[in-house]
Amino acid sequence: MTIKITAQQLSMRFKERVLFHIPELSIGPNDAIYLKGDNGVGKTTLLKILSGLLKPTTGKIAQPTSNWLNRFSMRTGRKDVIYLHQSPYLFDGTVYQNIVYGIRYQKESANGKRAQVITALRMVGLETLADEHISVLSGGEKQRVAMARAWILKPSILLMDEPSASLDHESIDRLVVMAKDLLARGSSLVITSHQTNALTDLCRKQWWIKDTTLVESPLLQVIKDTSQEKTYATSNAN
Ligand SMILES: Nc1ncnc2c1ncn2[C@@H]1O[C@H](COP(=O)(O)OP(=O)(O)O)[C@@H](O)[C@H]1O
Ligand SMILES: [Mg+2]
Repeated sequence: MTIKITAQQLSMRFKERVLFHIPELSIGPNDAIYLKGDNGVGKTTLLKILSGLLKPTTGKIAQPTSNWLNRFSMRTGRKDVIYLHQSPYLFDGTVYQNIVYGIRYQKESANGKRAQVITALRMVGLETLADEHISVLSGGEKQRVAMARAWILKPSILLMDEPSASLDHESIDRLVVMAKDLLARGSSLVITSHQTNALTDLCRKQWWIKDTTLVESPLLQVIKDTSQEKTYATSNAN
């Protein structure tokens, strides 16, 4: 669960246009990164490169393996880095079928799989919709199904592309529950978003694609505790 990926001299060019050149980057173990940048700077492209869906023009993604166990899990083809698409592709079937699909080859009893899907459905608040056809769900509910399908695979790194675009508060809060659970298990997250929200508040680092490169900076945690806020306000007044 706690893998790290690194890349050097990572660049992407479409014909003559250089989208970005990033001398060095690394994710993990247990990172939470808010990836921001104007429309069209290459956030989606970078996430697709990191997940192996796109090949960069230069550079490649390396996964330093620290021990034989990691090497073994890579050979067995564990899906360690998952890209969660902005408008997820869900197939023609029920909510339950869409989620269980991710673990169809897992060596586990049918009952064990069922229990995992039910846990996932509860976490995203869709347990009463398990047998509904995917087409009757709202956009926010579909995004929650996609998140549940990613969560059930327990990825080491989850790349979330604009997960909160046009989502209601309830759906964002449900995604936060799963994101927090993955972080507690040692996974890393990279989240792109137009505006800050409860999901980006989980992030401890910021990546900003600007002027065709990537700038990294730490993110200060927002003080949520109201008693601390009061203390802060008082000391400010003095
Ligand atoms: N296959 C492609 N061929 C040519 N240009 C592309 C291709 N894919 C993406 N682009 C361009 O790269 C730019 C960055 O796209 P994208 O990564 O989607 O940006 P962002 O997610 O930051 O909005 C856009 O201008 C887009 O048109
Ligand atoms: Mg994008």
